[in-house]
Amino acid sequence: MKKTSPVSRSGRFTSGPNADVARFTESVSFDWRLWRQDLLGSIAHATMLRKIGVLTKAEQTAIVKGLEAIGQEIADGKFRWKPKLEDVHMNIEAGLTRRVPTGAKLHTGRSRNDQVALDLRLWLRDEIVEVAGELRSFQSALVQLGAKNAHVLIPGYTHLQRAQPVYFAHHLLAYVEMVQRDYERLKDCFQRVNVCPLGSGAVAGSTLPLDRGLVARLLGFVDAKGKPLVTQNSMDAVSDRDFVVEFCSVAALIAVHLSRLAEDVILWSSAEFGFIKIADAYTTGSSLMPQKKNPDIAELTRGKAGRVFGNLIALLTLLKGLPMTYNRDLQEDKERLFDTADTVRTCVQLMAAMLRNTTVNHKACLAAASDPSLLATDLADYLVGKGMPFRQAHHVVGAIVALAELKNKKLNELTLVELKSGDKTFGDDALAVFNLEKSMAKREIVGAPGTKEVVKQMARWRKQLS
Ligand code: ARG
Repeated sequence: MKKTSPVSRSGRFTSGPNADVARFTESVSFDWRLWRQDLLGSIAHATMLRKIGVLTKAEQTAIVKGLEAIGQEIADGKFRWKPKLEDVHMNIEAGLTRRVPTGAKLHTGRSRNDQVALDLRLWLRDEIVEVAGELRSFQSALVQLGAKNAHVLIPGYTHLQRAQPVYFAHHLLAYVEMVQRDYERLKDCFQRVNVCPLGSGAVAGSTLPLDRGLVARLLGFVDAKGKPLVTQNSMDAVSDRDFVVEFCSVAALIAVHLSRLAEDVILWSSAEFGFIKIADAYTTGSSLMPQKKNPDIAELTRGKAGRVFGNLIALLTLLKGLPMTYNRDLQEDKERLFDTADTVRTCVQLMAAMLRNTTVNHKACLAAASDPSLLATDLADYLVGKGMPFRQAHHVVGAIVALAELKNKKLNELTLVELKSGDKTFGDDALAVFNLEKSMAKREIVGAPGTKEVVKQMARWRKQLS
């Protein structure tokens, strides 16, 4: 048999690529990460080729053994990746044909165009499962921190101004809700990743009777009933990167949510708030100011959101002008995808670890939550209870707040006489409104930070996350 090498240029070309061109076009420096998926795909493809009679049993066995040996070599760090061979696919195929000459039959009915689409889908499937698991453990960290500080109240803020009291746990559960939606989006995205493109060839499928269903089943591209899921249009399948964009946009929202929490953590750990203390091991110091303890995990998480968004925009831009079907531009998808997955995964992990090593300063929280102006709305609700229209009650309490300011008193330090001077409707029980505990007990509607409701929500999440 004539020795052939699996190089895209063989046959038609009289020379190899210019060194600069080779450097410019290679992708193995980053797509080597797909080696496991590439091997799995090739083993499934070989199994199918055997079934349709392209390979003999002996040839299939030799090819699979060769691929497995390459896998071992790569795992042991002994495989030599050659940029000259462009990408992970050709490096592995060349490694195979070096060992097993019949490896030259493996690429039958297959192109790197459907191969890379397959590898990416396989890789992303695993990655989604990993990220989803990290999100779960992040949610648990939030719930645990809330549970450890179940009785702690803090001001809820709007416009970063003190608004109304909430349980600290309620604030944390807001993030648990956001992350839950991220988790659901990941699961939904998985469904569109989980479709097998192999058999689409370079653009137009194959004249050979490839058994696409078999390959799909072997690689776990099946629905809940075990029915194989294969792409339905070869042109779409080789140039579709929607699933990459989808994952990266889900990741961008995860980054938004992490970044918002990071901002809260940064504020809370400042001397001005003093609500939390992050353990030393999860902070860093300053090279100049000896007293500094900085919330760098949170700051970097906030900062890294930028590159996650950037990756998404890069991908959308990459795709928008591509004529059908595969174009080499698509090679640019991988670094954006890998970087997004790596970044988001590390941020989720470290933010969770930081929360697990954070303590809450109950005294500082109580001092802030005890600000009686947080209950100004309760006072208006009191008037509403006496039959006053809310707009009027809002106006009356506004005037009372102004009066307190004028008298240099806190809202709950005003006398009953002073209150009644604002409006006759105030009864002798008006000042009882400023009992924080009672006020929290009153917020019992679903989703409110009432004492019982927060206990209920915490219990629901603990059950759901256990
Ligand atoms: N390295 C390529 C990529 O990542 C693989 C597909 C190349 N196909 C081709 N016909 N040159 O997109």
